[in-house]
Amino acid sequence: MKALVIYYSRSGNTIIVGKDIAEALRADDEEIVSFEKYKGFFGYIRSGYEAIFKRKSDIAIMLTKVSEYDLVVLGSPNWGGMASPVRTFISENDLKKVKKIAFFCVQGGSGAEKVLSQIEKLTKKPINTLIINAKDIGSRDYKNKIKEFCSKLKKK
Ligand SMILES: Cc1cc2nc3c(=O)[nH]c(=O)nc-3n(C[C@H](O)[C@H](O)[C@H](O)COP(=O)(O)O)c2cc1C
Repeated sequence: MKALVIYYSRSGNTIIVGKDIAEALRADDEEIVSFEKYKGFFGYIRSGYEAIFKRKSDIAIMLTKVSEYDLVVLGSPNWGGMASPVRTFISENDLKKVKKIAFFCVQGGSGAEKVLSQIEKLTKKPINTLIINAKDIGSRDYKNKIKEFCSKLKKK
């Protein structure tokens, strides 16, 4: 099974999780790169605004093509909603046509279910989902969660 892991990250946590999933799945992976500025205080406010008002973001052309994979795993940080660069990625790539999809969301502590359901509404039913609290990254519990998530993906 050919798998691809795609993720956007503002402060690095979703990259770590995306890369760990890709390693466990022996999958290709690619980061969504935005040309917009989301760092710092004003960047934080902008991120939240774009997530709440379902705005899009200007993103770089992806090197990978979702149509070449059997499974695409898509990850977003929780910005009080889906991160706007992920929303743009979805609008530019027909994930409905991909055989199998799965999602993950990295959050501070709560609300990631909303992000997962927003992604599902714009794509299709995932074969599995995963929520990670940023503070748990690297812990034994985190490693087990990644392992379990990926072994289910491999079986389905
Ligand atoms: C604008 C904004 C809104 C956020 N809202 C939430 C939230 O509602 N719930 C939560 O648990 N974390 C929230 N967070 C925290 C991020 O989800 C968390 O820091 C995550 O690890 C960021 O991932 P990243 O490092 O890949 O960017 C928010 C972060 C930002 C920037």
